[in-house]
Amino acid sequence: MSQEVKNESGMTRKEAAKAVGHKCLVSRRNFLIGTGVTTTIMITMNAGTSEAKEVPAQITEYPRKFIAKLSELKEDEPFDFNYPDESDYSENMVVKMGVKAGGGVGPNQDVVAFNYACTHQGGSLDGSYKKDTKSLGACPLHLSTYDLTRHGILISGQAYQSLPQILLEVEGDDIYATGIFGLIYGRKDNLQG
Ligand code: FES
Repeated sequence: MSQEVKNESGMTRKEAAKAVGHKCLVSRRNFLIGTGVTTTIMITMNAGTSEAKEVPAQITEYPRKFIAKLSELKEDEPFDFNYPDESDYSENMVVKMGVKAGGGVGPNQDVVAFNYACTHQGGSLDGSYKKDTKSLGACPLHLSTYDLTRHGILISGQAYQSLPQILLEVEGDDIYATGIFGLIYGRKDNLQG
């Protein structure tokens, strides 16, 4: 059974995100919607039987966050942003690579986003984008390098996990982060940074 999840203002997640958008002036309530982590909904247990009853259930969602304008991204020039929060290891980059990539968005499926923390021991990959190979690295600690055209898989180095890829959606000219594929270094749960 599919249910449309609404917040206390009666808005769906998409409507709430649109209401928040990327404006600077938001109320505390809208900020909480925009970073919405946990929503309580009512679901029917044992539907269609004499034991059917409504019970509360909590779902945890990634926030939907505006990242950048598609039209303002310059090829091979990464743009930095934090996601899914402002805590440790939340630094990421979005880049238009000019070549089709796994998970890429935009008309040419060439816009991707990745976390900057090396999956080996958390070395920062900030500033290490290589336009020739469409990769991040080498990590300054132990030289791991990741392929951004193939979901951040390891090319070489000490790491053994792919770089977490930020899931993107495009709405008009706006790029939104909507989730993460992979576990951010240093976290047991991406949403408990
Ligand atoms: S921390 Fe990056 S390779 Fe070790």
